[in-house]
Amino acid sequence: MRLSILPLGALLLTPTSAAPSFTGEPDSSGKYWLFAPGISASFIPYGASISNLFITDKHGVDRDIVLGFDNATYYSLDPVHPHFGGVPGRYANRIKNSTFTLDDDGEEYHILPNEHPTDDHPAGVNTLHGGPDGWDHRNFTVVSYTQTSITFSLVDPDGKEGFPGEVISYITYTLSDRTWDAKMVAIPTTKKTPIMLSSHTYWNLDGFANNQTATALNHTLHLPFSGQTIAVDSILIPTGDILPAPKGSVNDFWSAPRQIGDGFADPKIVDNCGGDCVGYDNCWLVNRPGPYDWRSEDKLVASLSSEWSGIKLDIWSDQDAFQMYSCNGMDGTMPVKATQGRDDGEGSGMIEKYGCVVLEVQDWIDGINHPEWGRGPKQIFEPGGDPYVLQVRHRFSVDA
Ligand SMILES: *[C@@H]1O[C@H](CO)[C@@H](O)[C@H](O)[C@H]1NC(C)=O
Ligand SMILES: *[C@@H]1O[C@H](CO)[C@@H](O)[C@H](O)[C@H]1NC(C)=O
Ligand SMILES: *[C@@H]1O[C@H](CO)[C@@H](O)[C@H](O)[C@H]1NC(C)=O
Ligand SMILES: *[C@@H]1O[C@H](CO)[C@@H](O)[C@H](O)[C@H]1NC(C)=O
Ligand SMILES: *[C@@H]1O[C@H](CO)[C@@H](O)[C@H](O)[C@H]1NC(C)=O
Repeated sequence: MRLSILPLGALLLTPTSAAPSFTGEPDSSGKYWLFAPGISASFIPYGASISNLFITDKHGVDRDIVLGFDNATYYSLDPVHPHFGGVPGRYANRIKNSTFTLDDDGEEYHILPNEHPTDDHPAGVNTLHGGPDGWDHRNFTVVSYTQTSITFSLVDPDGKEGFPGEVISYITYTLSDRTWDAKMVAIPTTKKTPIMLSSHTYWNLDGFANNQTATALNHTLHLPFSGQTIAVDSILIPTGDILPAPKGSVNDFWSAPRQIGDGFADPKIVDNCGGDCVGYDNCWLVNRPGPYDWRSEDKLVASLSSEWSGIKLDIWSDQDAFQMYSCNGMDGTMPVKATQGRDDGEGSGMIEKYGCVVLEVQDWIDGINHPEWGRGPKQIFEPGGDPYVLQVRHRFSVDA
């Protein structure tokens, strides 16, 4: 018999940071726990972030397979801000020159920059994930909390970070049988504005317990509908070009499931994720001929699995693009959580370079600066019009 009582497993691993059962209150670490058969997870108001996610692996051990911090308080204190598990907003990914226009009248909006500082631009030359005080730097309000579901809300004021108009958003996470669903809705109330959200979850499907490797390069990825990428310059700003990912090239994860490290022997992996960057921080298009129901089995956007733990993650989404980041920026200075690490106590206890994978469902990055792509209806919203909606389903299974 397998010990699959997740709350008990979590309790054994960390008596202080995991909740034994649903209480209707956050635990002493400020985390809100949800429970469903074969899965338990915690969420925090900061960035409406996922903070823990436990799945029982093929050895019968409960693994915490998302990155995060041990307590809700630390998310606001950590100086690095790796965007652990949160909702980047109001506009995820990068905005070229921190500038965009929305109308033919050409009014230019300037958003606060926060990436790639230079002597001339000490705050940066572009905006990443909604600015220096983007949504995943703020505490959302918990508006509903049950054993299987939590809803967070944020009111983003007019002019915050330079964006036009107020936006009200609701982020709902639900657990069911080894499944984590996220639904995000955002509504502009006063002005036309760009909105693009995502779920910025970092994964290590071995819970950092793998005693053969400290990296996630042996995780296998499949992106069956993603034969094209968005070309980017040396600082990851889209150039406007859409590139093919030919079979066998470093960005080919469509023709067959493939280990993330498999393409690292190809010289083209150098500069693939920006200047001097080796690895992945790329946006693939998700090309599904419509009309289709995004929940259908055969419309799966991505699969990630690890043979070591046997844990497999399948992702379905209504979004038309997909970003994968192979944790090229990690350098062994960020600790894993107390709920993670090698069972034998060996290992560094730190997140090594390539030690994780970020999977982000989203729309075409920086589409507001590329009207020729026609992404307006998915990225620009106005009062009285359709709301912004993002849906993503994460379903887990375990191969013996
Ligand atoms: C809170 O979490 C941080 C990072 O995970 C950890 O360093 C710190 O010790 C924790 N604080 C408490 C009081 O447990
Ligand atoms: C968010 O809430 C936490 C308590 O869980 C608190 O420690 C922190 O200061 C708050 N951060 C912000 C940015 O309001
Ligand atoms: C870049 O941003 C600066 C300052 O925000 C602005 O003055 C300039 O017009 C922008 N350049 C382009 C090409 O959009
Ligand atoms: C590595 O971990 C697996 C799974 O827990 C275990 O079966 C195996 O004995 C470990 N190997 C070593 C050399 O410790
Ligand atoms: C792990 O990845 C490395 C580098 O890509 C590869 O050489 C090795 O064969 C992989 N190991 C397994 C067990 O798949």
